[in-house]
Amino acid sequence: MADEERFVREQERLTGRIEEILKRFLPPEEGIADTMPGQEDIRMPLIVAEAMNYSLMSGGKRLRPLFMQLSFDLFNGSNHEMLHPFLAAIEMIHTYSLIHDDLPAMDNDTLRRGKKTCHVAYGEAMAILAGDGLLNRAYETALLASEACQDPQDMVRLVLALRVLSTKAGLRGMVGGQALDVASEGKLIADREETLYFIHENKTAALIEAALMCGAILAGARVEAVDMMERIGSRIGRAFQIRDDILDVTGKKETLGKSPGKDAAHKKLTYVSLYGMKRAEEDLKKLTEEALADLEAVGAREDDLIVYLTSRLAGRMN
Ligand code: IPE
Ligand code: IPE
Ligand code: MG
Ligand code: MG
Ligand code: MG
Repeated sequence: MADEERFVREQERLTGRIEEILKRFLPPEEGIADTMPGQEDIRMPLIVAEAMNYSLMSGGKRLRPLFMQLSFDLFNGSNHEMLHPFLAAIEMIHTYSLIHDDLPAMDNDTLRRGKKTCHVAYGEAMAILAGDGLLNRAYETALLASEACQDPQDMVRLVLALRVLSTKAGLRGMVGGQALDVASEGKLIADREETLYFIHENKTAALIEAALMCGAILAGARVEAVDMMERIGSRIGRAFQIRDDILDVTGKKETLGKSPGKDAAHKKLTYVSLYGMKRAEEDLKKLTEEALADLEAVGAREDDLIVYLTSRLAGRMN
């Protein structure tokens, strides 16, 4: 299909651009030890930077920056220099969440993005610090957008976007969801439906909401539109995690780039364990359709990449 090809090419082009933007904000791997007189042989800080870059640049679909860019475009954003640091920042936060998610104390995974997980490659302590380093660097990077502010309005947008990003990444977002995911492992929970909703909404949807909301805010969208992007992000994000839960059962290591079968082994509360495969597939489809209807309501056209991407994610294989 000609359209399909065009979308695939456009997604590849944008993803390539995001990779280039990410490279601009990578931590340097040399020079830090030189600042410690007489201790040039101490490589520790360099190893942390290396571990951060290892995980950040080891592939990944770059969906969160992609959604941020597409939301920015949907609202005709023009200050790209303000957007770029935010694209890098959200991918840094996402990558840190994966490094910590894979740690032995959490999901204990050895494979991520088709490569050894950070703690397998660099040791647990360095992986914890690489995650910490990426989280902090995300905010250092996002704040660089201040250098591209052209007027007081831009500065207000920067602050609003930072508030959204930091809230959605934290306790009332990704961290909160991850905490409940781990706390409910192997437990007999009274309200399983409510618990699962909270886990999916927070551990996964929150960062996708942040991506769509920050893109809209930085483009200067009205508050009602930003609220709509949050709603859309919630639906895309929950659909995304249902697909992740399905792929943990049906996926192959080679295509997934991570080890399947881990959720059952850890007695995780997932969409498949609670509702079964059939209902999971149905709800994934329903959430995707709702997101697509809301995208249309907010002005997206059928031939916009954001529409294509949203519908394609329902059938993704990795
Ligand atoms: C994996 O996210 C973690 C979940 C929230 C399910 P992605 O599937 O976007 O991972 P990468 O970035 O492409 O590796
Ligand atoms: C993790 O969910 C979501 C994060 C916030 C990292 P999962 O634990 O299911 O993600 P995968 O399957 O390891 O990528
Ligand atoms: Mg997990
Ligand atoms: Mg995991
Ligand atoms: Mg998973």
